[in-house]
Amino acid sequence: KRLQVLTKRYKEDPSAAAGKLKTDQQEWEDHLINKAITSKTPKAAPPGEKSYDLLLDDFRKEDLLAGYDNREAESEDELEIEAKSIAEERRKLPVFPYREELIKAVHEYQVLVVVGETGSGKTTQIPQYLIEEGFGGVCCTQPRRVAAMSVAARVATEVGCKLGSKVGYSIRFEDCTSDKTVIKYMTDGMLLREFLSEPDLGQYHVIIIDEAHERSLSTDIAMGLVKDIARARGDSIRIIISSATLNAEKFRDYFDDAPIFNIPGRRYPVDIYYTKAPEADYLDACCVSVLQIHASQPPGDILVFLTGQEEIETAVEILNQRTRGLGSKVQELMIAPIYSTLPADMQAKIFEPTPPGARKVVLATNIAETSVTIPGIVYVIDPGFCKQKSYNPKTGMESLIVVPVSRAGAVQRTGRAGRTQPGKCFRMFTKWSFYNEMEEDTIPEILRTNLAQVVLLLKSLGIDDLINFDFIDAPPSEVLIKSLEQLYALGALNDRGELTKLGRRMAELPLDPMMAKSLIGSEKYSCSEEVATICAMLSVNNSIFYRPKDKGVIADAARAAFARGGGGDHMALLNCYNQWRDSGFSTQWCYENFVQARSIKQARDVRDQLDGLMDRVEVEKTSNLDGDAICKAIASGFFYNATRLEKGGTYRTLKNPHTVHIHPSSCLFKSEKLPRWLIYHELVFTTKEFMRQVIQIESAWLLEIAPFYYQSKELEDQTKAKLPKVVGKASTTT
Ligand code: CDP
Ligand code: MG
Repeated sequence: KRLQVLTKRYKEDPSAAAGKLKTDQQEWEDHLINKAITSKTPKAAPPGEKSYDLLLDDFRKEDLLAGYDNREAESEDELEIEAKSIAEERRKLPVFPYREELIKAVHEYQVLVVVGETGSGKTTQIPQYLIEEGFGGVCCTQPRRVAAMSVAARVATEVGCKLGSKVGYSIRFEDCTSDKTVIKYMTDGMLLREFLSEPDLGQYHVIIIDEAHERSLSTDIAMGLVKDIARARGDSIRIIISSATLNAEKFRDYFDDAPIFNIPGRRYPVDIYYTKAPEADYLDACCVSVLQIHASQPPGDILVFLTGQEEIETAVEILNQRTRGLGSKVQELMIAPIYSTLPADMQAKIFEPTPPGARKVVLATNIAETSVTIPGIVYVIDPGFCKQKSYNPKTGMESLIVVPVSRAGAVQRTGRAGRTQPGKCFRMFTKWSFYNEMEEDTIPEILRTNLAQVVLLLKSLGIDDLINFDFIDAPPSEVLIKSLEQLYALGALNDRGELTKLGRRMAELPLDPMMAKSLIGSEKYSCSEEVATICAMLSVNNSIFYRPKDKGVIADAARAAFARGGGGDHMALLNCYNQWRDSGFSTQWCYENFVQARSIKQARDVRDQLDGLMDRVEVEKTSNLDGDAICKAIASGFFYNATRLEKGGTYRTLKNPHTVHIHPSSCLFKSEKLPRWLIYHELVFTTKEFMRQVIQIESAWLLEIAPFYYQSKELEDQTKAKLPKVVGKASTTT
């Protein structure tokens, strides 16, 4: 019935007004683009003037004929044919006609801002052009790990080499490069870590800060640091700031009037449809729209923007269910999810061409907004939300919340529909809301996040005067001060704000400072092996346990078994990992115990990496299965996140008191006897503020672990606190 209503709505949705809406849209986009492109743009060569034989230069051919195993081609002939078609594709990209001009500009200017539509070839082509023209090592940063991996794989194919040889990638806990690597894609966070080991980044000739418009925290910091080394290294380094068609002026101004190089893109018109009234259940509305498009619209793939893994998995389930009911009358609908923790082999699915007669629907997070370009998209469905970090410096609380996207974000999403032919974008929000409720631009991450990790990194790079660091947008000083306080409480800084020995060790670990402190703190409780396992399990997000709807009860029982020993989610994760290890890392064991084999294997990889890191930071490896010891070690890093049980089964945070709830995914949710004290791993805000992954502690431990941070008065038992106070006498702890 809903399907009919929606179909009707879209049919009615004033086609007369559609033209008008499109004009508004075009005006708006033009406004954004005009904002971005200025007269400083070097004049580019007219398209098609020069043709390069991209295929046959030695760089590629040599590899083509050697160990080319990304594809299935067998004979040299087949390889040549395949390589030819790749070269053909490369020539068709909007950036190609500007190759010459671009190289010239890179020779001429130390810093260049490159602006172009998503899909014009900035990320995949520019590094190749540079290498072909004799530039040395090129690195290209990405704010998202999935983008770094998928783009590297694509470029390796284009170059005709094995991923990890001439073209590689580096993301946290995974280094897929070798000493042969000349094009390296990496997350922006990894580039920051490279400053620690090589402060002038001497191995690179060109550094490309890609997706700069995203303004991720690490990108912002990386820009500050490369700006600095550009001065020091002079002619031996080139910097390219690459951005979608947004905010380019801002980068130009920041890099002392660097020229902007504009790559004109192709864009086809996109019809925009709004809903008449706000959607109460946008996820359902999206699924209905997918089916409606599938049933009634001409061929073309669909891209749906959702906020995260859980939402995407729900949508996959709903769509699977509903398409099953459609029978054989309707063509096949291929459902392809993509989000940051999806394993690489499953990510590849979104790039596979859709077989004739079928239709693909890609369910993506914000990653598909600009970071990855998916071929064949004609329809975009945009509910208008994304998941964003938010930080309150007063309370020191950081949480992930679902917020409306900015107008600029919505415009980018719409653009995904018009890359190869005219498209349609269905916005699951009202036109009024687009113009009146959405912010113009997304707020840069640096203005809405806890900076403890960055401050620790900058301190260990010897940058002490943080207030005067050349930030592109300076964070509020209260946030910087709060971070300094937190690092002091963790023991990473001394009372003069200088890095301590502990702080230096913490900075070496690619972990959040709290987690780093727990791992180093575990030495004292002789349980570093266990804490490393917990860190690894926590770092693969929440997807370790598998819960098919039809076997919910058995799955829950399997999961409860891991938690039986008590302690909370951290201990359940530890038990789960250890039992899996004892099974000889068996996949069969995973099936039997409703554990996601892929996720836990990922945890094993992280665990192996941590093992190496512990050697480097000299954390003594000891094992101790005592629950209290393990919980104390975790608390030594996360004491900041302590909460106390209050009436009604909710919890209250100790510092800056406010009410929080146990997340339904926790093993302590619905627990009959709730622990009096808990420490949470992270807060997420959906319908209310939830603690995800909680561990049980005793209040006395907080005094033992962080005596300078907690006073016994704060840790009184709730019931006692209610007793009338004896005047003039301090009450004592239980
Ligand atoms: O960086 P920019 O958005 O300008 O474009 P790009 O990522 O370099 O993409 C250029 C072309 O490569 C697009 O047509 C993509 O469809 C294609 N591509 C691909 O087929 N597979 C990937 N993993 C990445 C890009
Ligand atoms: Mg790109």
